[in-house]
Amino acid sequence: MLYIGVDLGTSSVKLLLMDEAGDIKSIVTREYPLFFPHPGWSEQNPEDWYTNLMDGIKELTKDCDKSSVEGISFSGQMHGMVILDEMDNVIRPAILWNDGRTQEECDYLNNEIGVDKISAYTGNMALTGFTAPKLLWVKKHEPDNFAKINKVMLPKDYIAYMLSGIHCTDVSDASGMLLLDVKNKCWSKEMLDIIGLKEEQLAHVYESFEVVGNLKAEVAKELGLSENVKVIAGGGDQAVAAVGTGTVGHGMCNVSLGTSGVVFIASKEYAEVEKNALHVFAHADGKYHFMGVMLSAAASNKWWMDEIIGTKEYGKEQAAVSKLGENNVYFLPYLMGERTPHNNPDARGTFIGMTMDTSRSDMTQAVLEGVAFALRDSFEITKKLGVDIERIRINGGGAKSPLWCKIIANVLNVKVDKINSEEGPAFGAAILAAVGCGKYSNVEEAAGKLIKVIETTEQDPEVVALYNKKYDVFKDLYPTLKTMYSRIVQA
Ligand code: XUL
Repeated sequence: MLYIGVDLGTSSVKLLLMDEAGDIKSIVTREYPLFFPHPGWSEQNPEDWYTNLMDGIKELTKDCDKSSVEGISFSGQMHGMVILDEMDNVIRPAILWNDGRTQEECDYLNNEIGVDKISAYTGNMALTGFTAPKLLWVKKHEPDNFAKINKVMLPKDYIAYMLSGIHCTDVSDASGMLLLDVKNKCWSKEMLDIIGLKEEQLAHVYESFEVVGNLKAEVAKELGLSENVKVIAGGGDQAVAAVGTGTVGHGMCNVSLGTSGVVFIASKEYAEVEKNALHVFAHADGKYHFMGVMLSAAASNKWWMDEIIGTKEYGKEQAAVSKLGENNVYFLPYLMGERTPHNNPDARGTFIGMTMDTSRSDMTQAVLEGVAFALRDSFEITKKLGVDIERIRINGGGAKSPLWCKIIANVLNVKVDKINSEEGPAFGAAILAAVGCGKYSNVEEAAGKLIKVIETTEQDPEVVALYNKKYDVFKDLYPTLKTMYSRIVQA
């Protein structure tokens, strides 16, 4: 039997075909446009996702035995607001996770309604990327559109709906809407009242591995697939990527070095996090997770390499870096502001500590270290939750750099495991499809069978001690510079 994993990302949709043994048979990627109608705004047309998805599935399955395809599931860019009218037509372009227009709405929720209440209802505080503040923005700025809303959906749920005809969502993705009572995995009545929505305007909430329906007859016909193909709910991209790296169950941690950087901790229990310093979301394995998200991880390295020193030879550039833990140059990687733990869109990228003998490789090293230190900021908070992490898994583009893996191992004082698949979210989605079709009895069992550690980078106690001293300096830099960032933005 074959399973399709769909990773509905921000720049493209990636599709993966997996067999029962977890072997990847083919991969297809299709790009679609991203629109910035105003500085700081970010939108996409849900129709673009769907047409590219359909074309992608046709290409993905063109050489396989189509009757063997048993299920399809999804990983989705989170937090995006898709609104449908009573005919299920899209009312306006989707407002995405990286859209920053809702600061006023967040201030209203966190300061006027009160962060304690919001976090008691949902487990989280309002952040500009989340869905609920976007709905308040539409209510204020586009009241006609707000009045037309029949269903609020998330990006991957819109494509699941187009394939199956079912209005569905899943616990992990719904956690990022600020409308879900994450602990009890149901819609929060209080939040719905605050936003001015009724429960029927939201989709039914499934676990990520649950079947929501089958392909609609006309969709199955167009794709040449059986009407019995099961559509499985899927999840938010970070939770599904964690499934794809086997970060499931309790106490396991995955670090993602993608455009953004994520520290993801699987937990069998729900817990509140002091000052909402980490996101508390439901996991795609049926349990929960904590997550710290920094906005510019591999993006910082790309910026430094491509835009500043002008090289595509990242490996060669990094080969010149030698003295780990002895660099006096620091880099604060806040090129797009920062989410966790500072929650400050005005924070800015900063180099500090250069002298006349500072070299190009010291600066290159500082960028990699700055990202590692910023990840440690989130990592330190997880320690306060009593989660003792000795090893992490690592994925995302940055994980291809052995030097970066070594820096992460020493800055976080952990063993860093690389696994047999680099296809985190799409692979995780295919695993969810296989679980939903009954191939495995649960997500943990599937991950245990399909995901293997192939390489481990160990920390060196002497370098760890050096980095501990450097981190003491790094952690004091942001509070020292904070007021300067606001002045720079306002000047
Ligand atoms: C998670 C998050 C990103 C987006 C885009 O909170 O904002 O992972 O889902 O990938």
